[in-house]
Amino acid sequence: MIRRLKVWVAFLVSLLFCGDILWGCLGKTGKQESVKFQQYFAVGEQLYIKNCSNCHQKSGVGLGLLYPPLNTSDFMDKNPEKVICLIKYGIEGELLVNGSQYNKAMPGIPSLTELEIAEISTFLFNSWGRKKGIIETERVSSTIEHCQD
Ligand code: HEC
Repeated sequence: MIRRLKVWVAFLVSLLFCGDILWGCLGKTGKQESVKFQQYFAVGEQLYIKNCSNCHQKSGVGLGLLYPPLNTSDFMDKNPEKVICLIKYGIEGELLVNGSQYNKAMPGIPSLTELEIAEISTFLFNSWGRKKGIIETERVSSTIEHCQD
């Protein structure tokens, strides 16, 4: 009987320990992830203000039928990969956003690095009600390879 009790106590103690270590580990990786996310988001916001807000406005509302909105955009929600491409290469021709027709060329910014595009994208896809999480540089690299296919 006592032996059994001892086994139980050992079992419970080990559970407590494992649990603690497990939660410690999970907590730590979670924290590192969120620090990286915060960095991408903060730098992305600055890059957005510097490179995009002239036309699309700080609040992302765009400007009439000249510059389409980014704060709500069915185009962005449907075409995340195209968003990555147009930041680098620009876009022109007729474009339908939220049912409105736009047709004015947007210049690309080829000098932006893949990291910077990832940061801007992380800002865009986690602002104004979006919560898509971090956009990794690796994803930007693999997307950009196929932009001009
Ligand atoms: C010189 C003005 C200008 C600047 C600067 C600019 N854009 Fe644009 N953007 C446009 C125009 C004009 C269009 C519509 C293009 C068309 O009609 O084909 C557009 C389209 C878009 C679209 C797709 C349509 C939509 O509303 O979802 C996205 C996304 C976008 N821009 C993001 C950006 C980002 C991010 C930056 C900064 C890196 C940026 N733009 C900088 C003018 C600009």
